[in-house]
Amino acid sequence: MDEDIIIRPCRTDECEIILKLWQDAGSTPSVSDTIDNLKKEMQSDGGILLVAECEGTIIGTVMGGWDGWRGNIYRLAVLPDFRLRGIGRRLVREVERQLVDRGARKLSILVEKNENIAVTFWDAMKNSNRHWLAANMTGEAFLGFGAFNTKKITGQDVIDFLKFRQDIVETKTWDLDMFAEVLGKPQK
Ligand SMILES: CC(C)(COP(=O)(O)OP(=O)(O)OC[C@H]1O[C@@H](n2cnc3c(N)ncnc32)[C@H](O)[C@@H]1OP(=O)(O)O)[C@@H](O)C(=O)NCCC(=O)NCCS
Repeated sequence: MDEDIIIRPCRTDECEIILKLWQDAGSTPSVSDTIDNLKKEMQSDGGILLVAECEGTIIGTVMGGWDGWRGNIYRLAVLPDFRLRGIGRRLVREVERQLVDRGARKLSILVEKNENIAVTFWDAMKNSNRHWLAANMTGEAFLGFGAFNTKKITGQDVIDFLKFRQDIVETKTWDLDMFAEVLGKPQK
């Protein structure tokens, strides 16, 4: 059944459903919870409002905002009957992807510390970033030593770390070609 769940942009005629879903999911109410505000957010350049849909019913939401400096994630909510099936994680992955596509390199989220489920959820989300960070640091250390040792062969000791991080995000294979792209190629 979970394969039937799709993540898609919210339509402007669905704002009322979204407001009701936030109530049913127990999201903290906000003064900005109005149909007009939702429509404005969806029509703004940096605004993203995604829904999770199961068999024609909206069961989850997440919003994303990109202000040109930082990406923000908010209004993540999944209806109680559909929780603990990875839908929250899928919504977060997709909004992250869309924010990064728009140019965001830093993302933030505000979590109320007394909301135990929200805190546990975001702690679980951090794990994949920790693994990414570990892979990133190991790779960068390897490149650093490599640059020092191979300058005579490649003729350069400048490493394109930005490209390297992009390659990791794209889950490229760590092989000689990948390293040559960021570290310079051996000269003939
Ligand atoms: C927070 C919320 C969106 C999570 O949605 P969800 O679809 O149940 O989350 P997922 O199934 O994707 O869970 C992802 C991870 O969080 C953990 N998690 C989520 N809810 C949990 C709970 N009640 N207890 C323990 N762990 C929980 C899961 O263990 C899971 O980790 P895993 O995949 O490694 O096992 C949902 O509970 C909700 O709508 N809560 C009310 C609104 C809210 O608090 N929103 C967050 C605002 S910051």
